[in-house]
This record gives sequence, structure tokens and C-alpha cells, in this order.
Amino acid sequence: SASCFAPLQKTVASPGRGILAIDESSATCGKRLASIGLDNTEVNRQAYRQLLLTTAGLGEYISGAILFEETLYQSTTDGKTFVDVLKDQNIMPGIKVDKGLVPLPGSNNESWCQGLDGLASRCAEYYKQGARFAKWRTVVSIPCGPTALAVKEAAWGLARYAAIAQDNGLVPIVEPEILLDGDHGIERTLEVAEKVWSEVFFYLAENNVLFEGILLKPSMVTPGAEHKEKASPEAIAKNTLTMLRRRVPPAVPGIMFLSGGQSELEATMNLNAMNQSANPWHVSFSYARALQNSVLKTWQGQPENIEAAQKALLVRAKANSLAQLGSYTGEGESDEAKKGMFQKGYTY
Ligand code: 13P
Repeated sequence: SASCFAPLQKTVASPGRGILAIDESSATCGKRLASIGLDNTEVNRQAYRQLLLTTAGLGEYISGAILFEETLYQSTTDGKTFVDVLKDQNIMPGIKVDKGLVPLPGSNNESWCQGLDGLASRCAEYYKQGARFAKWRTVVSIPCGPTALAVKEAAWGLARYAAIAQDNGLVPIVEPEILLDGDHGIERTLEVAEKVWSEVFFYLAENNVLFEGILLKPSMVTPGAEHKEKASPEAIAKNTLTMLRRRVPPAVPGIMFLSGGQSELEATMNLNAMNQSANPWHVSFSYARALQNSVLKTWQGQPENIEAAQKALLVRAKANSLAQLGSYTGEGESDEAKKGMFQKGYTY
């Protein structure tokens, strides 16, 4: 019933807090480590996640952390499980449960997301280990169409996953990422996003998913990354909120945006613009790249930089916390935060 998810919703969708997404698969985490010259070993992945999760004071701004399976079962070098580290900061542990993207035959070079086989038993195991919410990320490409087939498959997969996660006590984060790739204008993104979310909600309802017990992780409605003009935070907020109001029932408690390759600063300013007036849902963040970029650059894999890197994480987390409250001003931001992170054809 709705009441079994209520305490979780109160924690994750609490004012001034959002989600830290550090659920990169081992291969994707390897890309992050390679960017600072580190090998993709379990030791290095653990060290990076320990740096992030043991940041003192993180719980003031972060309500949930999405982990990859490996991280859910890891501990600090002092022997405290990461799950306990999170719980002590009142941060809800979450888990990525999809098995990644593969080519979708019969489409226009599009993908589908694997992971339904064995999902129920994996969810039950993750719950036992302390996870309380789950994430499934699939993607939709505007330059590739999207074809009706790709949209339908994305929506159906998300709905099946959401039903299975709820059945095993996990709150599903529903994430159909509409990729930034392309030179289209913002109107085209709005049109595609409306189509995608209408199908997602159609199939969520068909699978008897409880709307009060889900969270959404949408892309913001922006122009394509290669479009001739950038849009202002106000224009992005207007289009994104228009789309959400048209498609998302108020029964859904929280909207936790992904950053999708926006710069740290853009992601924060856009979220702030979205919170300038009251919304029917908690509107917050679930960023990976836009919370980790300056942390990685500061850390460089050096133990003596850990403290500075954790400070960098707190700066971003606090900025996004203020943006959730609609009171971010952008004062004192570094040049690093302003750099775009968009990479054409980026794959997780
Ligand atoms: P980005 O914020 O880097 O787009 O990551 C989103 C995501 O799905 C990771 O959980």
C-alpha cells in the first residue's frame, strides 16, 4: 500500500535535499578514474566511493545515494559498511538494478535496457542488504527518431521494472533519459518528452504501479547540445515544468532530475529556476556528473587531496540544496563548475 513507502518518501523528498548518483557500472566508473589517470581496479573504485560517501555533513544536502551493486556490498577501509555510513547521515541507500543498454534490433540504431530476468530475486537481496530504492535508466535518442518501437520498449521496460521493484519493497526511480545529443530546438525536445512520458505513465498504470510509491528521474527539456542557441534557465524551467504538469500526476511525490552532461553550474541554475514557484511535486536533483566533476579534478587520486575533494562535493551539494529551495544565487562559483561536460554519443 501507499503507506509502506511513506517514510521513505519523506526522507528522499525532504526540503533542501536531493540524490547523489554514484551508481556507475564498473566500466563507467573506469572512465571517471581514467580521467584522472587511475586504473580501473576494485581498490580504486572503493577508494573513490569512500571519499564521496564519508564526506562529513553530506546528509544535510543529500537524502539518498544510488549505488552500483559492488558498492552496496563494500565497506570503508576501517570496516564500516557503506550502508551504515549512509544510514548514520540519514541518507537512504539506493541501488541501480538495470543491466545496461544494448542495440534494439528493428530500430533506427537505438537501444533497449536489459535487466528484467531475475530482477525480483535481486531486488529482494538488495533490500536485505539495506537498499530502499532502486533505479533503472533507459535512453531515448531524438536524432535517431525516436522510433515508436524504441519509445514503447523503453516505457514498457520501465513499467515492468517499477512493478517488480515495488513488489519487493523498493521505491523505483523511473528514468527514461532523453539524450542531449542533436541539433534540434527546445520545442522538439518538449514534443518528444511529452510522448515518452505519456507512454511511460500509460504502462505504469497498466502494470498497476502505485504512483505514490515512485520517483521520477527526467531529463530537463533543453535544446539539443548542438543546437545553434543555448536556452536560459528560465526557458528550460518553463518548458520542463510545462511538460511535467501535462504528464505527471500530483500523486507522484518527487521529481529528481538527471544532469545529462550539463555543466555543474547549468544543472544547478536550471534546478533553481524550476523552484521559483510552488510545484505539485518535490522538484530536486539526482546528479552524477554534475556532482562529481570538480570532486574528481580536485582529488586526482592523491590521499592528500581527499579533504579538498570532499569540500568540493559539499560545495556542489549545498548549491543544489539551495536550488531545490529556489534560493541559489551562483555567487562564488569556480570556473571549473562552469565548464560543460557534454560529450557527443556519451554512453554510461
Ligand atoms: P548524470 O547526472 O551524469 O546524467 O547521471 C544520471 C544518472 O542516471 C546516474 O544515475
